[in-house]
Amino acid sequence: MSDITIHLGQTLWFAGDPMVEGPEAARFDARGGIAVQDGHVLARGTADDLRRDFPQARVDDHGKALILPGFIDAHVHYPQTAMIASWGKRLIDWLNTYTFPEEMRFGDADYAAEIAGRYLDLALSHGTTTMCSYCTIHPESVDAYFSAANARGMRVLGGKTCMDRNAPDGLLDTAQSAYDDSKALLGRWHGQGRASYVITPRFSPTSTPEQLSALGALWAEHPDCLMQTHLSEQTDEIAWVRGLYPEARDYLDTYEAHGLLGANGLYGHAIHLEPRERDRLREVDAALIHCPTSNTFIGSGLFDMAGLAAEGQRVGLATDTGGGSSFSMLRTMAAAYEIAQLRGVALHPSTLLWLATEGSARSLRIADRVGTLAPGSEADFITLDLGSTPAIAQRSARAADIWEAVFPTIMMGDDRAVSGVWVMGERRR
Ligand code: GUN
Ligand code: ZN
Repeated sequence: MSDITIHLGQTLWFAGDPMVEGPEAARFDARGGIAVQDGHVLARGTADDLRRDFPQARVDDHGKALILPGFIDAHVHYPQTAMIASWGKRLIDWLNTYTFPEEMRFGDADYAAEIAGRYLDLALSHGTTTMCSYCTIHPESVDAYFSAANARGMRVLGGKTCMDRNAPDGLLDTAQSAYDDSKALLGRWHGQGRASYVITPRFSPTSTPEQLSALGALWAEHPDCLMQTHLSEQTDEIAWVRGLYPEARDYLDTYEAHGLLGANGLYGHAIHLEPRERDRLREVDAALIHCPTSNTFIGSGLFDMAGLAAEGQRVGLATDTGGGSSFSMLRTMAAAYEIAQLRGVALHPSTLLWLATEGSARSLRIADRVGTLAPGSEADFITLDLGSTPAIAQRSARAADIWEAVFPTIMMGDDRAVSGVWVMGERRR
């Protein structure tokens, strides 16, 4: 039996879903911890219980730091790392002006490797241990991403972005090459170590119906894979889709008609949904991925978190780097809070923390492995310093309970709050 390490601190976990049950679903220990062995969580409990049950274990005491699962970012574009925070455009102009020129560079395997490594190191430094990323149309960009993640031991998901129209020459594939390249990459990476391949049509405006059908066929051949795309992010985009697919009932129907609607589907943004689209998404138990810093940064609109949760939709949370304006899931939780406030709803800190961990893990169908710190899961976790800056510390010093103690870090925290990061039990920061 190999060595056991007990990590002690404040612990917070969920016995149920706080989106449904409220904060009562959370369990808090001011003196708790986890025991880790062979990269997995062996036990979770109070500090006293863990010390009693594992008397030989090494003890790593993190004091008053809050031990949480590593954050899970359910929708990011790692190739947009170097052009994050580009000024002054809305979605379609932003894609054409900033995004597509940058993505063109990823045919160069060296550049792809440089940015993949840079992105993953930035993510880790912000406490994000798992993400689901779009790559570019270039297979090299997918190899770079999974290789860089493998070198860091990280559980990551992603796939080749497919586009065969309405993008510059040099950033287009075809229906056939998208199918062939995606299939080859899926075969190379899916289930290799901690990698999962995700079939990735960018969005309906940049795919012909033939390409959507080809990718729908690939998904039907590999139904255990996830499929990710964008849905109803901006009103101009929706009008464009209507023009490109005159026969479709609505935006979601452009996917549905081509075999791209299913339980393992991830639909990014999903802001301006029709009632039929909401009904169908819930019927098939698809996941809607909320990207709040992106939605305010690109001016997209206000995601209906409370309404969608109330009707039982599966929701994940994401940065959408570089349409999103931050690598931080703390800042992303803050933006989700602010958007809900603009819709008259105050999201509880338990809901925000759940969304950034277990909720996103459930949307990616990996909550049995990461996102919870339940015994048996992979030991990807972080410690949060709840007084990481003078401004945060003076506020949390007055806290009457854990929610008041953690909320200032959610609202004002950044990578300075992430005092430790472990991947499969190994310290990375
Ligand atoms: N819709 C299609 N592509 C993109 C992208 O790269 N970012 C965002 N935010 N929306 C998109
Ligand atoms: Zn996106």
